[in-house]
Amino acid sequence: MTQGIFITGTGTEIGKTVIAGGLAASLKQAGIDVGVMKPISTGDTADARFLKHAAQVDDDLSLINPIYLRHPLAPSVAARIENREIDLSRVENAFVELQQRHDFLIVEGVGGIAVPIRDDFWVVHLIKQLQLPILIVATAGLGTLNHTLLTVTFAQQFNIQIAGIVLNGLRPERAGLAEATNPVEIEKLTGVPVIGVVPYQKQLDTPSPDVTFLAEWTNRHIAWRKLEGP
Ligand SMILES: Nc1ncnc2c1ncn2[C@@H]1O[C@H](COP(=O)(O)OP(=O)(O)OP(=O)(O)O)[C@@H](O)[C@H]1O
Ligand SMILES: [Mg+2]
Repeated sequence: MTQGIFITGTGTEIGKTVIAGGLAASLKQAGIDVGVMKPISTGDTADARFLKHAAQVDDDLSLINPIYLRHPLAPSVAARIENREIDLSRVENAFVELQQRHDFLIVEGVGGIAVPIRDDFWVVHLIKQLQLPILIVATAGLGTLNHTLLTVTFAQQFNIQIAGIVLNGLRPERAGLAEATNPVEIEKLTGVPVIGVVPYQKQLDTPSPDVTFLAEWTNRHIAWRKLEGP
């Protein structure tokens, strides 16, 4: 059985945290002992706090988020500016500890899959190290075919298992032909299931949303039971 899932995206500000938190809330509501992790954050620790809130776990923030860099940049760049070396053993140790504490782990990446953590160690290498399948969060509208295909083909080059794709931030009142055709096109072109199309929901655009609402919203829009593992 899969021990967890790594939430990556086609870029930054795509909705990885909202989707990761939503899955955590749903799995928890379904009775699964779920843990969360944001191995590396830059700029602030809001993602780790959102995930902790969504999963309602007692784990310390320093375990959920072992590496924090002040500058809101790619980790390798922030580390250089701050004259710091990113100690990846801290990520590995925290990951092992959280895996021991929980039955299923939801891990959020940083930016997209080709973001450098060190010059020679990118998010894709972290995914390989943690040996988790990925869920790709992408946008719902025009442009997402390009970004999604780039992410899928790149992950496949590294033999990473892709569990599914979620299209996030749909605004039905503004949606057109691209939004209508994207889910089917993406499945046809990649062979990866699109397990959800998630609308923009103002009530969730906040640092600590109502967790019951978050879980129900996720259940309604993401077929997470299609993911292998939970
Ligand atoms: N479906 C949604 N409904 C409402 N707000 C959303 C939704 N998806 C994302 N947002 C909002 O959009 C912003 C970006 O989303 P989020 O923080 O989840 O992106 P991210 O991919 O995790 O970004 P980062 O790369 O910084 O980690 C946030 O303010 C979030 O609340
Ligand atoms: Mg995030």
